[in-house]
Amino acid sequence: MSPGRFIVFEGTEGSGKSTQVRLLGERMRAAGLPVDVTREPGGTPAGEAIRTLLFSEAGAGAAPRTVALLHTAARAEHVARRIEPAVASGTHVLCDRFLDSTLAYQGGGSGLPIDELLELQSFAVGNCEPDLRVLIAVDVEVGLQRRFGVDEEVNWIDRAGLDFHSRVQAVFQDRARTYPTQWLVVDGDQPATAVSEEIVLGLRRLFPEFAGL
Ligand code: TMP
Repeated sequence: MSPGRFIVFEGTEGSGKSTQVRLLGERMRAAGLPVDVTREPGGTPAGEAIRTLLFSEAGAGAAPRTVALLHTAARAEHVARRIEPAVASGTHVLCDRFLDSTLAYQGGGSGLPIDELLELQSFAVGNCEPDLRVLIAVDVEVGLQRRFGVDEEVNWIDRAGLDFHSRVQAVFQDRARTYPTQWLVVDGDQPATAVSEEIVLGLRRLFPEFAGL
């Protein structure tokens, strides 16, 4: 049996990333493919508890290094307990955010050194590298407005301001430009169905097992 693919979705607030993860999960299930849809921070009992802490008042007051460690701890648990076992059993894993979010938010946004964050990620995830990172690229300001318009789970990071989120976007874009074979960049400023089609086309092109999607 071949291992499943590990595909992560990244983007700034209001990029429509969560919708795309859900749509792709539904499409894969309809095509008879085994798939596990999950998110970060979260995806395990310990990870969801860390998520609750991160987005509480206590989390809002935490220092950037503490925040980076909490996100990364949740990720280590996610990899060990959910992602690696699923992939090993032949299940495709679709994950809403992964380690590039720590580089973008805690590195770009909060100003922590990216090389130090990368070392931390390596400790937490070992060899668990995504097969593909999908970047849903949207105008940062439009995304923030969308986020505040519809989402009940607005948190302190969402409220960090346009400069913060522009620095987050810059790191995502820089990573995608520097490692083009690892990333599929999709224009998120289109209707959700068009974004979804673009992602499916990319997956068909890149992975033989997704040819029938
Ligand atoms: P989301 O579920 O809407 O994507 O919210 C998760 C928030 O957490 C989002 O504002 C990005 C932030 N985040 C980090 O700051 N660092 C990380 O490593 C991850 C995974 C998320």
